[in-house]
Amino acid sequence: MEKNFDLIVIGGGPGGYVCAIRASQLGLKTACVESRGTLGGTCLNIGCIPSKSLLNLSENFQKAKKDFNQQGIEIDNIKLNIDKMMSNKNKSVSILTKGVEFLFKKNKVTYIKGKGVIFSKNDVVVYNDNKKENFKTKNIVIATGSTATSIPGINIDEKNIISSTGVLSLNKVPKKLVVIGGGYIGLEMGSVWSRLGSEVTVIEYLDHITPGMDLEISKEFQKILNKQGINFKLESKVKSIKNHSNSATVEYIDNKTSKTTTIEADKVLVSVGRKPYTEGLNLSKVGIYKDDKGRIKVNKKFQTSVENIYAIGDVIKGPMLAHKAEDEGIAVAEILAGQAGHVNYDVIPGVIYTSPEVATVGKTEEQLKSENKSYKVGKFPFLANSRAKVNNETEGFVKILADKTTDKVLGVHIIGPHCGDMIAEMALAMEFGASAEDIARTCHAHPTHTEAIKEAALAVDKRPIHF
Ligand code: NAI
Repeated sequence: MEKNFDLIVIGGGPGGYVCAIRASQLGLKTACVESRGTLGGTCLNIGCIPSKSLLNLSENFQKAKKDFNQQGIEIDNIKLNIDKMMSNKNKSVSILTKGVEFLFKKNKVTYIKGKGVIFSKNDVVVYNDNKKENFKTKNIVIATGSTATSIPGINIDEKNIISSTGVLSLNKVPKKLVVIGGGYIGLEMGSVWSRLGSEVTVIEYLDHITPGMDLEISKEFQKILNKQGINFKLESKVKSIKNHSNSATVEYIDNKTSKTTTIEADKVLVSVGRKPYTEGLNLSKVGIYKDDKGRIKVNKKFQTSVENIYAIGDVIKGPMLAHKAEDEGIAVAEILAGQAGHVNYDVIPGVIYTSPEVATVGKTEEQLKSENKSYKVGKFPFLANSRAKVNNETEGFVKILADKTTDKVLGVHIIGPHCGDMIAEMALAMEFGASAEDIARTCHAHPTHTEAIKEAALAVDKRPIHF
């Protein structure tokens, strides 16, 4: 195997593998080190992809069970085969991780299996079983991602107390599932198991779910999930979890009254956030600094405190999202090739793949208020969108925030059908500095859900047609 590279990327997740491919495309002799045994990182193996598979399958199951009969599609004896559902999910994961391996071959990226350790600024040592190999490199990109955090004193055993990994592979539908944390993971996975038949209770520390999201959207989201059967205990802090042989008891305190309550569950999902994963990289020895949250400090060019060592994705600041890591990977590769790689952090979309989906990009109303910005709001409900109406998907709305003087779009927040795809249009509009008027004047096909965006843009100027 080749031992000398222009670039060694440590970590084969969406940040790392995309960076390696782009660097190779740009003529750099590139290797990517990955210890998991398969490429694709958390996202492909135990995150975005398997969870989206289960979200899609469980939604189909629920539709078939609850909605089809009323819509004239009569099917008897709808049964859940969880083993088949899980193997379907596993197959999707396997196809996609192998797909990345194929892309490496196609783009001439050397795939090194094992755990990479930075020995010096130009030396990476890779440990695989009992084997140790040394590699020389001009540059290093750290893209080692993140791992799930827990609550102090609570041990995730992946039996009764499970993490975002364990919750993707349950072989039985838990009768009662308690989810700790009302963030992205808790709500997506809570939705999956609720649709498959679990009684789900979400315990959230704050007085609202999805912290950081536009509050109006967050409140509507909780209302909809509640209607779907998910229970919420807000402003509640988990104190302890007692693990029994086939169940667990969660003890939580009401933040306002200090009253302690217990709740029994077959499974408890701990989804209270993630932390950067930099263990065993030898960072302090080579002089790479981290901030107080354990994130690697980088400058605008993604350089760490060591000039030729870069870091991207979940190990640095910013939202822990696969697409943010991918864009940073491309930016670093381009910077290394002498180009002007750059990421616009003001326009990074976020999507929660529940039903309906929630999608956001840009500033929230709360952020604009705290920045003393004058803004206009345009809203349009899916109830008044003809496509949503015929599809019986009328929950939610589009909310566009635009500058009061210039009309420039500052943020778009949507809860509603297919908005995870629709948000791309808004990200593009914002990249081009569009005004609400620009969006309102863009012809949108009829009948599509995207017309709700056009109408919300018209509503910014108080002139929607269909509402
Ligand atoms: P999160 O940060 O989204 O949510 C964690 C929630 O737990 C917060 O609402 C927090 O207030 C709450 N919490 C913390 N400690 C608590 C306690 N002791 N008791 C009760 N509540 C407590 O974290 P999550 O859901 O674990 O996701 C991790 C990362 O993965 C996020 O950065 C997220 O963006 C990313 N992710 C993205 C997805 C997507 O793009 N669709 C899907 C899944 C994860």
